[in-house]
Amino acid sequence: MLVKVVSKNFDIQDSHTLKVALECGTYDSLDKLFATCPDDITEEVVKSGLRGKGGGGAACGPKWKMMPKDDPRPAYLIVNGDESEPGTFKDRQIFQYDPHLLIEGIIYSCYAINSHDAYIYIRGEYEWFINRLNKAIDEAYEAGIIGESVKGHDFRIDITVHRGGGAYICGEKSALIESLEGKRGHPRLKPHQKECEWFFDNPATVNNVETIATVPFIVKNGYEAYTAYGTAKSPGTMLFAMSGAVKNPGVYELAFGNKMIDFLNEVGGGMKEGKKLKALIPGGSSCPILTADEVNEAVLDYESMWDIGSTLGTGGMIVIDDSQNMVDVAKNLIEFYHHESCGQCTPCREGTSWIDKMLADILEGSGKVEDLDTILEVCETMNGKTVCVFAPAVKDIIKSIVIKFRHEFIAEFNKNN
Ligand SMILES: Cc1cc2nc3c(=O)[nH]c(=O)nc-3n(C[C@H](O)[C@H](O)[C@H](O)COP(=O)(O)O)c2cc1C
Repeated sequence: MLVKVVSKNFDIQDSHTLKVALECGTYDSLDKLFATCPDDITEEVVKSGLRGKGGGGAACGPKWKMMPKDDPRPAYLIVNGDESEPGTFKDRQIFQYDPHLLIEGIIYSCYAINSHDAYIYIRGEYEWFINRLNKAIDEAYEAGIIGESVKGHDFRIDITVHRGGGAYICGEKSALIESLEGKRGHPRLKPHQKECEWFFDNPATVNNVETIATVPFIVKNGYEAYTAYGTAKSPGTMLFAMSGAVKNPGVYELAFGNKMIDFLNEVGGGMKEGKKLKALIPGGSSCPILTADEVNEAVLDYESMWDIGSTLGTGGMIVIDDSQNMVDVAKNLIEFYHHESCGQCTPCREGTSWIDKMLADILEGSGKVEDLDTILEVCETMNGKTVCVFAPAVKDIIKSIVIKFRHEFIAEFNKNN
């Protein structure tokens, strides 16, 4: 079931060093890259159907095409490694085991969008990973792989690592850019028409770490090598993180289209001893929750997950066993979102705070059954009325828990009466 596209070097001793990366073939096709027209690189990525791995699943190639042509201003590639959502921990595997693959992906992507400056934005607390990445970048500069002349070619690439201040909202691409510009990390209003991002009024593309690390495989091997994996509509592979009540939690690369339950049992080793599957949050903590019955039917690709009313998100799966109280689960999650709401939009700021308070009341025994309807109403006020999708995502997870596990909330009321 496991495949190796992005993770191909993860198990190799010292895979993070330049020496081993070179032995594994990283950077071996740069001459070929610079002999190819940048638009052809973009076209290859378009044909591969590569989708962004940061949660939204936007098609990568078409996004690159939104970068303006013949614009005299400098273009920027911004790599999003903020990774602060509970249950999502796969980009850190790339920083840890194959930072040179990311650097190689940056070279390919910068060349395609005609950018000479890339920023990698990482949550500041990930000090160990930042050091690991910085070491690899230093090695690449010293070896002339990046810098004034990429491997002797007439193309400059500079890479700067920027440490975020530890705010989950700074993973949202426009908040990230605000933060990178030295401002408070508040998401920006989005234009109706599709366009690139703007960094100090210069054209920019924001892509997730894993998205960029997938690009070399596609360009080196051809788009068909990537579409050979996965399904017709969700081609390729993804790093799926599995955490919670399973025997073998970890990060595993799979082609899209596998059954979730097979992944859980065959790779995750099944549930921990004596535990039964109760629920699963797919794709990081903000995707609608699945019941055990739904997990049995779920298929790991974008379309199949939408069909069952959830989303694939970042592929970070949180497995919840039957000893967990779902009111506690909801409270745990809302505490995080309440704390992390940037406060810019009233429905998000007040909504997360209000739901947090109501769930606390329910757990303390002072809640009322009507609170469940109020929670669902507040969820609706958070949907579609804010600058970014933080609030709608909170709505998704909380509403799905309240609806699918209503009986556990009722049991909580009964316990206290
Ligand atoms: C609250 C919030 C947090 C996010 N955090 C991240 C993150 O940590 N990393 C990431 O790549 N994308 C994150 N995203 C998605 C980004 O806004 C953006 O879609 C993504 O970086 C684009 O790259 P991709 O197309 O390669 O996925 C977040 C979105 C929201 C709304």
